[in-house]
Amino acid sequence: MSPSQGVGLVSVLATGQKPSRIQRRGRYTRESMRHPAKMLPAIAAQVIEAFTAPGDLVVDPMCGIGTTLVEAIHLGRDAAGMEYEPHWAQMAAANVLLAQRQGATGTVKLAIGDARTIATAHLPLRGKAALVLTSPPYGSYTHGHVRSGHRDGDGGPVTKWNHRYSSDRGNLAHRSMPELLDGFGRILAATTRLLRPSGVVAVTVRPIRMRGELIDLPGLVIGTAHKHGLTLVDRHAALLAGLRDGGLVTRASFFQMLETRRARDKGIPACITAHEDLLLFQRAAERRDGNTQDKTRCVNSEETR
Ligand SMILES: C[S@@+](CC[C@H](N)C(=O)[O-])C[C@H]1O[C@@H](n2cnc3c(N)ncnc32)[C@H](O)[C@@H]1O
Repeated sequence: MSPSQGVGLVSVLATGQKPSRIQRRGRYTRESMRHPAKMLPAIAAQVIEAFTAPGDLVVDPMCGIGTTLVEAIHLGRDAAGMEYEPHWAQMAAANVLLAQRQGATGTVKLAIGDARTIATAHLPLRGKAALVLTSPPYGSYTHGHVRSGHRDGDGGPVTKWNHRYSSDRGNLAHRSMPELLDGFGRILAATTRLLRPSGVVAVTVRPIRMRGELIDLPGLVIGTAHKHGLTLVDRHAALLAGLRDGGLVTRASFFQMLETRRARDKGIPACITAHEDLLLFQRAAERRDGNTQDKTRCVNSEETR
């Protein structure tokens, strides 16, 4: 199955119909909620269903608490993951165990360490994966959990917790943007060695705000992937917001709303991000047709006020 067939996918994926908390309830351990930047389970499930068949192998080189792995094995696929932080990897293992107790049939191989070494860590899997599905870390730009000193959320002191992956400087989340992109590119290149011919690399990523400025992280990831031999073959919007009666139902956190309101008070026309970009790549040499431009129509900046 190739992305150019677009099986099961449309340009906007309704992946936020249920809030993240509800999507995870009973399916993931309660402690895994502590991870600051988890993928929505519905995004993982829809991408896996669209680009793989039962029995296929799905890989996530930066698997966090294991959303890709869990959704893959619930769908009868096998999965392999790697995670730098031992505590997130342990949570991924606990989530996989929970899924298997609930009847998930796929098998999982999980490694701890720097995913730049994933082709060695998962040596027997070289050339076997149908899909790589991952997302880069967002550095200190995640919100984690937040409490405001004021009840209406305006003007009071804000306390954040669970907004860091760890205090380890080796974690790519804690590097500068150029270092993060370089590391992520190397991880993509290494993971591609596990891909079978015509396999697909899917990256979910959203724009971030750094000191008030909107950074086009999806665009930067496309450039990085390109440098490492991957060609963008399709691009979709995976909604974080719900869709109801033709409109968007925001799922923004308290902190996102607070930040947006503060930016607007300063005259910055900020919006709340309502989707993640879903970027689909293939190895450059494997592109079957050259019509990339048509397929990369931009569904970027689906934002809601
Ligand atoms: C955006 S999160 C992924 C979350 C995951 N999709 C989930 O749903 O749990 C990125 C993850 O990359 C991990 N990470 C950072 N640097 C890494 C590296 N060099 N190798 C492997 N994982 C790394 C972080 O610890 C973090 O858990």
